[in-house]
Amino acid sequence: MSDEDLYDQSHIDFLEDLWGEGFLSPGGADEVGRVLDGVDMAGKTILDIGCGSGAIACLLVDRYDAAHVTGIDVEDPVCNAARTRAAAAGLTDRITITKVTPGPFPFDADRFDVVFSKDSIIHIPDKAAMAAESFRVLKPGGMFAASDWLISHDDAPTPEMAHYLKMEALEFAMASPSKYRAAMEDAGFEAVELVNRNPWYAEVSAAELAELSGPNRAKWQGRHGAEFIDHQIEIWTAMQPVMTSGEHCPHHIRGRKPT
Ligand SMILES: C[S@@+](CC[C@H](N)C(=O)[O-])C[C@H]1O[C@@H](n2cnc3c(N)ncnc32)[C@H](O)[C@@H]1O
Repeated sequence: MSDEDLYDQSHIDFLEDLWGEGFLSPGGADEVGRVLDGVDMAGKTILDIGCGSGAIACLLVDRYDAAHVTGIDVEDPVCNAARTRAAAAGLTDRITITKVTPGPFPFDADRFDVVFSKDSIIHIPDKAAMAAESFRVLKPGGMFAASDWLISHDDAPTPEMAHYLKMEALEFAMASPSKYRAAMEDAGFEAVELVNRNPWYAEVSAAELAELSGPNRAKWQGRHGAEFIDHQIEIWTAMQPVMTSGEHCPHHIRGRKPT
């Protein structure tokens, strides 16, 4: 592990405690199911951008019967956790976890049937380059199906959003729905669709804050340390106004590479 890992072991442990074993984003298997609703995964080869600690890669093979998942991520602790999870599930022949450096994907063109990502592209500032690379590595007719955290507009963040981003300190690079759509369409994707998930996560994140800061606070502090949990409560508190206003707007994003 390097000193610069944003998702270090204490964050992995906390986020998995909040969101489920192997999940570093909200919604668990149900939300993955909504991202993939109607996408044919059986027998397909999948690229998972920002695979985190690997529950989703396992799910894509186990539940969706993907032939093979290649998970890429930029940090060692999550890659190691994902490899351990795939091995424990006996899925190493169908899951490959590759640590990459940010930038072009280390894969040939026309390689994957589906490019998937769950709440990770927020860490990739250049959405146009990400879309172009996803398009390049997809086979003709292949699908891009992702969830990501967006900002509702192209202006400077409001003071509330600026405060939230400062508290998160996870180097978020949020784009607006219109920037995302343009990046996807300029890359060549057709049938580009964006679905705003703010109403869902506004409710869920408020419940998460109540869980962390309510009667169970001492239990969370006991498991993860008082200082750590108090800081997470500050982050979740800062998130609420931008969730309520809709400025913080997680989306599902879809597009198809023409045949
Ligand atoms: C919020 S977590 C989501 C992980 C996983 N998709 C999930 O839902 O459990 C974001 C992940 O993106 C990874 N990440 C950050 N920058 C990245 C990049 N340039 N390329 C790929 N992954 C990246 C982080 O290391 C982290 O594991």
